[in-house]
Amino acid sequence: MTRVADVVVIGSGVAGVSTALGLAATRQVILLSAGDGSTPWAQGGISAAYGEDDPLDHWHDTEVAGAGFCDPRNVRALVEEGPQRLAELIAHGARFDRDDTGSLLRTLEGGHSRPRIVHAGGDATGAEVHRALLDALRRSSVRTVTGRAAGLLQSETGSVVGVLVDTGTELSQIEARAVVLATGGIGNAYLASTNPATVRGDGIALALRAGASLVDMEFVQFHPTALHTGETSGQLPLVTEAVRGEGAVLRDVHGRRIMAGRHPRADLAPRDVVARAIEATMRRDGSDHVWLDATEVAPDVLRKRFPTVLASCARIGVDLLSEQIPVAPAEHFLCGGVRTDRNGATDVPGLYAVGEVAATGVHGANRLASNSLLEGLVFGRRVATALTLDLPAKDLGRTRELTLGDDRQPERIRTTLSRYAGIRRDGAGLNAAAEELDSMGTGPLATVARAVVVAATARQDSRGCHWRSDHPHAAERWDEHIVVRLDQEGRPTTRQLPTAGLLPR
Ligand code: FAD
Ligand code: SIN
Repeated sequence: MTRVADVVVIGSGVAGVSTALGLAATRQVILLSAGDGSTPWAQGGISAAYGEDDPLDHWHDTEVAGAGFCDPRNVRALVEEGPQRLAELIAHGARFDRDDTGSLLRTLEGGHSRPRIVHAGGDATGAEVHRALLDALRRSSVRTVTGRAAGLLQSETGSVVGVLVDTGTELSQIEARAVVLATGGIGNAYLASTNPATVRGDGIALALRAGASLVDMEFVQFHPTALHTGETSGQLPLVTEAVRGEGAVLRDVHGRRIMAGRHPRADLAPRDVVARAIEATMRRDGSDHVWLDATEVAPDVLRKRFPTVLASCARIGVDLLSEQIPVAPAEHFLCGGVRTDRNGATDVPGLYAVGEVAATGVHGANRLASNSLLEGLVFGRRVATALTLDLPAKDLGRTRELTLGDDRQPERIRTTLSRYAGIRRDGAGLNAAAEELDSMGTGPLATVARAVVVAATARQDSRGCHWRSDHPHAAERWDEHIVVRLDQEGRPTTRQLPTAGLLPR
């Protein structure tokens, strides 16, 4: 069976649904999804600078957290267009937490110079954002298809002209003039992640197969505080940074503060700084966790603000209100991804990317907390606007299928990537990872893992969430992005790109 649309969007998270809704009035859109991704799991909130807050301050905090490696024009779009997109989300029916006068409540998270994170249901922001977006989608003309994008259709001239869909029972095609990847991050390529299992980097592998470039793949963000449940693989429950925003502090196994004196913002330093400090503390103490101590925070505040975290704690028999809880870092977010311009266009005609799968440069070398839902809203709209104004010309030539294939040894791939490309990396380990991955086939997870390893090997310095113990400082000669593409034999190769702009257009 073949379906036809103007645009097919792959992924039903904040980025995919925002794109589809933005196109619904002007284009025939099909939204293809394999299930829920990270969006409904988001806890802390959405950052937005409005009122007495200044988008320029948000811009500055984003730049600082990103270790000065952000694309300034795209960050400007993010912080300036963000409040408007948030207001539209509210108009779609999203209900955020408000005070007695009806004003939005705003909290603090790591790296922010002031409270600017709006939240819903206390710590259930993603669930509410997702609910409101899916309700709006049901009211729209967008057609939805459930299934996995198992490949892309490419014309003889190299344009992407459709998607191969695997519903589990049959293979079908969707022909379209534009294909938008909104497939999220790469959590499932690691053993332990805060992401659900549907987030496995398929969009990264699809883009590479089609000839597109990736950029900044070495910048994989680890969240400092996943709940230490004793499980070492799969999706781990998150303990939102907002708990530290309300006053909780990190302690080592001896009860000593970890972040005091390490950074001017202490426990609210940017995420990469805190994750590294925890990793170093755990290594020093030979421990597999540290403690998060919220016992000085008023119980009423904790109950009201963090029902999700409280429930996760209860499941492992700990009480956030009265005792310290065990936490450890876990893979959380891909700062890099498919290289795009400001409107989501990749360097392959007909192929677009948006949200976590895309690299617009807004996160630099380390994402600022609560800037990702915002990115999905802002850049989803930007892609929709661009595709409303212009669609790629219809390509009538013959097409071929670029299929994803399967991974033969997914667990070995995860183990290798986690061991050698975690918070702390070094050249010897990365070389060992590359060698091990060589024997693990060309499935999507193996492709994603190789892309991370090759980029992390190439960048011989440390900045943001890329930390090389053999090159522990940022070096000026590495003030360039690492671009990854597949060569003729399907092997990932790298080249360097100057910092100014990612994919200018
Ligand atoms: P996702 O929401 O991950 O959606 C990806 C979609 O692609 C899914 O529908 C998936 O099924 C689909 N898909 C993937 N591959 C295929 C395929 N081959 N075929 C078909 N469909 C496919 N960010 C914030 O800004 N604030 C927060 O408070 C926050 N908290 C977080 C808490 C947790 C626990 C996690 C995991 C993340 C959090 N983040 C937060 C990050 C943020 O949630 C994500 O970066 C963001 O939701 C990504 O949105 P997305 O639309 O790009 O992708
Ligand atoms: C959190 O709530 O700590 C996660 C926020 C984010 O990933 O931006």
